[in-house]
Amino acid sequence: MKVSSMFSRNVIMMSVAALGAISLASCSPTQPPAANVDSATPVAKQETPTLKNLQAAYNGESNAHVMYLAFANKADEEGYKDIASLFKAVARAEEIHRDNHAKVIQAMGVTPKNNITTPDVKSTGDNLEKAMGGNLSQAIKGESYERDTMYPNFIKQAKAESNQAAVQTFDYALAAETQHAQLYTEIKNNLNDWKQASRQFYVCTVSGETFVNSPPTSCPQTKTGKDVEQVI
Ligand SMILES: [Fe+2]
Ligand SMILES: [Fe+2]
Repeated sequence: MKVSSMFSRNVIMMSVAALGAISLASCSPTQPPAANVDSATPVAKQETPTLKNLQAAYNGESNAHVMYLAFANKADEEGYKDIASLFKAVARAEEIHRDNHAKVIQAMGVTPKNNITTPDVKSTGDNLEKAMGGNLSQAIKGESYERDTMYPNFIKQAKAESNQAAVQTFDYALAAETQHAQLYTEIKNNLNDWKQASRQFYVCTVSGETFVNSPPTSCPQTKTGKDVEQVI
């Protein structure tokens, strides 16, 4: 996705937020049950640690989305068809997290801010390492870091601030990043098994949870199968 179109989308989303109570599900192509960011979301009168964490997560997810699309192109170029499709599915998941975080920031009366950097694309094997946190100097720290450190700490802080909407958007992201880290770990050791285009990829459009081969009958975070999208 081009950066300009991402900003356009965010402007539209800000208008929606101004109407009051909003839903994490409102931008999904399907209409899953509401995961509400409701009017109880605390409006930030000053920068709280959770607002800072939301902005950091919004920036991280924005960059992850762009990076994984670049990794998908590289995998395609190198003949790893299923890895390219997986990167596209994960890019879609990160896009969902980006938009979820943005809605919570907007509900707090603040404008989401990101800084998109040009992804450093290497070979597919090296890109997988990076995606797992192999290069922590990158702006994007990787799935393992998000799973083990970033989101657990953000959830703890959001709970301390009684910011339920922030807890929810971080919970969704944590569930999906855990799957991403696991998938990358499996693939890294079996790169050649992922050269053919033989797998299907599915994403839950509310939580970003990501599945290979079979769509879930129920997305674990939202307890519904109605918000499942196949990523082509
Ligand atoms: Fe994410
Ligand atoms: Fe991820």
